[in-house]
Amino acid sequence: LNNGLALTPPMGWLHWQRFLCQTDCKNYPSSCINEQLFMQMADIMVSNGWLKAGYKYVCIDDCWLAPNRDKNNRLQADPDRFPGGIKKLADYMHDRGLLFGIYQDVGNKTCAGFPGSRDFYELDAQTFADWGVDLLKFDGCNYGTLEDLEEGYRRMAIALNRTGRDIVYSCEWPLYARQEAHVNYTEVAEYCNSWRNFGDIDDSWASVKMILDFTATLQEQLVPAAGPGAWNDPDMLVIGNFGLSWDQQVTQMALWAIMAAPLLMSNDLRAISPESTALLQNQEVIAINQDPLGIQGYRLLKVNNFDLWEKPLASGSLAISVTNREEIGGPRYFLLVRAILWDGLSCDACYVTQLLPKRYEYGYYNSSQVLKVPVNPSGTVLLRLE
Ligand code: DGJ
Repeated sequence: LNNGLALTPPMGWLHWQRFLCQTDCKNYPSSCINEQLFMQMADIMVSNGWLKAGYKYVCIDDCWLAPNRDKNNRLQADPDRFPGGIKKLADYMHDRGLLFGIYQDVGNKTCAGFPGSRDFYELDAQTFADWGVDLLKFDGCNYGTLEDLEEGYRRMAIALNRTGRDIVYSCEWPLYARQEAHVNYTEVAEYCNSWRNFGDIDDSWASVKMILDFTATLQEQLVPAAGPGAWNDPDMLVIGNFGLSWDQQVTQMALWAIMAAPLLMSNDLRAISPESTALLQNQEVIAINQDPLGIQGYRLLKVNNFDLWEKPLASGSLAISVTNREEIGGPRYFLLVRAILWDGLSCDACYVTQLLPKRYEYGYYNSSQVLKVPVNPSGTVLLRLE
């Protein structure tokens, strides 16, 4: 979407995968969906280096709404869990240099059953703008017909634009449309700053693998649609939670960087290990994700149970990831030959730096050499050639 926003993939925090729709604040006082949760995350984003590392958006997902609209049909937050209202929460973010994201749905109800935006696109867009919202995640549950779905996503894009406020528009249009029809990615990219293509991520290696394989399978459609202002969204980063081993966390970080994915963490920043923190805040890896060219990386090769992906970077540099898809045994060597790589590389003898799992300088590597890279089972080695 050509609205001057999200020229590189948006970075921030989004509550869904980790906190879901917990509305029972009596039994879950520190993990229910209330204003406290977002204020605490915001404080930590600032104090623990997240904002400095580039994570700007603090985003609410489903389950923030009251069961009904107010008497003027305006949306209202649940009064018990958000007693200060949404405007106050947005101000809280802005006072700390953060940006604020909210959630709604194109249909008549959100996935969790709260009032949706159907019939109220213009009013809701204006309400969000009045509150100081900087990003809208627009879900697609209960969308009606395919026509309603597509028309709703278009109308909300136009309504947001008409408010005059800078609001990143994060869609799930292709995910829902895919169930019925072929997706026109050129059109989706005209209306949305980012869009989900597949079902929800969960906190597991199986889920991460499935998203990577789906993305690779559809890459001929997905990769050309991506670029500054328009990103495929493979869903949240689950690094720092319960389900991924260290090597699998490395794989998620490396591949989300290669895919130029929005980096929206869904974890508990109040209780996250120093290792996961360092991985998520790794500036050289983030720089690959945020590369100004905005080219989405793609799977180049699948061989011998290794997946090789590459992402062309500005000034003729290249990022490469090698994932060991074997889940038995120990580290295996991948032999990298230059001839198969992107032909836009500006270096003949390229300087090779391994960024993950550990920083290591391989030094210069010319086109007649073979680079021998050890990769752990379900782990990934991320390299930069420049
Ligand atoms: C489905 C979406 O894909 C998820 O990311 C999340 O927003 C839930 N709906 C919320 O109900």
